[in-house]
Amino acid sequence: MTRLVICVLLCVASFVQGGHEKYEGHQLYRVSGLNEQIRKLEATLDVLAATPAARSESGKLEALVRLAPEEKEQWLHYFEKNNMVYTKIADNLAEILRKEEAGIKATKEAAKRSGKSISWDTYYRHDEINDYLDELAEEHPDLVTVINAGLSFEGRQIKYARISSTRFENLMKPVIVIDAMAHAREWVTTPVALYIIHQLVVVAPESQLTQLVDWIIIPVVNPDGYEYSIDEDRLWRKTRSTAHEGADECPGVDVNRNFDHHWGTAPDSANPCSLIYEGPSAFSEAETRVVRSAVESSLQRTSLYISLHSYGNMFLYAWGNNGSLPSNALNLHMVGINMAHAIDEKALDKADRYIVGNAANVLYYTTGTSRDWTRAVGIPLTYTLELPGYEYLFQVPATYVEQIVTETWAGIAVGAQYVLSSW
Ligand SMILES: *[C@@H]1O[C@H](CO)[C@@H](O)[C@H](O)[C@H]1NC(C)=O
Repeated sequence: MTRLVICVLLCVASFVQGGHEKYEGHQLYRVSGLNEQIRKLEATLDVLAATPAARSESGKLEALVRLAPEEKEQWLHYFEKNNMVYTKIADNLAEILRKEEAGIKATKEAAKRSGKSISWDTYYRHDEINDYLDELAEEHPDLVTVINAGLSFEGRQIKYARISSTRFENLMKPVIVIDAMAHAREWVTTPVALYIIHQLVVVAPESQLTQLVDWIIIPVVNPDGYEYSIDEDRLWRKTRSTAHEGADECPGVDVNRNFDHHWGTAPDSANPCSLIYEGPSAFSEAETRVVRSAVESSLQRTSLYISLHSYGNMFLYAWGNNGSLPSNALNLHMVGINMAHAIDEKALDKADRYIVGNAANVLYYTTGTSRDWTRAVGIPLTYTLELPGYEYLFQVPATYVEQIVTETWAGIAVGAQYVLSSW
């Protein structure tokens, strides 16, 4: 018992990361190319993110890629041969990761001293996040129900919050579903999800958005990957499952390629070692199935689904598999623009303006995404929301969390208002 108490005091508060040494000497390059060229890189390289290129190279994409010392020459040669313009933007990734860790450690200690159950200027471990959800449900039983939605591959409890002033029993209300941390390394997505819960439950429980809308919010879809990205490998993206052929060498599946929508039709996603491995079958991952069951639980009245990702300042909508537009594309675009606008208004001056568009047109083709699957099963408004990374990519310093959660809430609130007024 005593040991447990000591561990609660010491272990929970710590945020000791591991594995940075494997990135000693790894460099980051920004490389631009045609959409197809960039998409191909994703199959073989660690592409940290892709975004539309700056105006001078309009029509092209820009990818941020990590090059290990031993593969660098070969890839730079490849870029040159293929007319892909590149610039080096960081010399030693391990150093960047060590700085990030030191920054988080400092904010973590400050947050602990503040005595608040949650702060918007640091990052939390999965068990702390689960505890926070349980605490909210205990304090606000009239509004919050925590659903134990299932176990991750490694046995962690995936929880989500159902927020409703009518216990999900009033079937006349619209539902909004939001998920975060499908991709492990995209840490800032979870605070955004938690902040939405906080706004609805703690800050404005009497607001229309709380009283007249039912919400399903999944703050950590992929807890195994998240914990692994803290303890072992900051750049981990996929789940930690080992149920597929080739898993010894390359464990894990990309949750956002594992949904049953044109699953299995993209050769690049069939390789277990690629960053975008789709898994041995659609919905092979426990984590993906949690999202599926959460979405299916109130499908008839769900109007809006947003999957939070990092980074790139984009609202992306269907169809990612072929670039054609769903029948309600005009609406998707308009609501996306309105949300983007509300965020841009509150963003820092140095932030990139949001881009709203069809996923395949803005970036490139994708299969098995939650955005396309949720649209296909009948939710009218579904988006992948790529949050801002500033110059930090997805290693957003803890000191930026508050800015990102508040500006993003402004956008989500506009989307929710639209749902309410058009219901
Ligand atoms: C593109 O994919 C969507 C979703 O599966 C489908 O409904 C649509 O018919 C396809 N469009 C074309 C032009 O193939």
